[in-house]
Amino acid sequence: MTMIADPEQYFRNFIPPRDEILRELEQEAKDERIPIVGPVVGELLFILARAVRAQRILELGTAIGYSAIYLAHGCEPAKGRVITLEWDEGMAARARSNIAKAGLSHLVEVQVGDAQKLMADMTGGTFDLVFLDIDKEGYLPALAHCHRLLKTGGLLIADNVGFAGADPFNQGIMADRRWRAVSLLCFLPNHSPEKDGLAFAVKVA
Ligand SMILES: C[S@@+](CC[C@H](N)C(=O)[O-])C[C@H]1O[C@@H](n2cnc3c(N)ncnc32)[C@H](O)[C@@H]1O
Repeated sequence: MTMIADPEQYFRNFIPPRDEILRELEQEAKDERIPIVGPVVGELLFILARAVRAQRILELGTAIGYSAIYLAHGCEPAKGRVITLEWDEGMAARARSNIAKAGLSHLVEVQVGDAQKLMADMTGGTFDLVFLDIDKEGYLPALAHCHRLLKTGGLLIADNVGFAGADPFNQGIMADRRWRAVSLLCFLPNHSPEKDGLAFAVKVA
């Protein structure tokens, strides 16, 4: 069996197409070194939100609203909504403006504050999908909230699990039988960074 030669270069040819607004945000993120998921993981978020027919989505870590736009488009046909949490007021303001430019303000609520504290005040069992993308040291503390907030059968997606700070989360979710989880080490063109891990988990109990 012959594998594709130079697979990284090869798979750069398959970066999904996207709207002008998303391309502008990618440029902004590059210029200002704001870590965003980029078009491959963005499209993955869209696909997963669409596939699970998510109606209530929670995102931890908004930055300038790039991934929230993908999630909002993903849940649009199911008349879904996205709540996204960001502790930096300036970022949250930029995200609101970008989400408005994308015509998605009616689908996305940006809440300002520490994700851990905001989650502690939310009602449990109500989300279909949670996307985890805050400081990596916060992943394990956030996991208990994610478990409480997701419905049984709900999907948890965690970005950047290849970062050292995500190790306690990786160990924790794999050891917890209330989750079925898998971690993938991936090549992700235009992701920050391009070689990183992604975790996917379903709340089974
Ligand atoms: C990697 S960026 C998010 C990128 C965004 N998901 C995207 O791909 O477009 C992480 C964001 O989370 C925010 N953040 C980090 N820790 C947080 C916390 N505990 N609560 C709320 N926001 C947090 C940071 O300010 C930063 O804007």
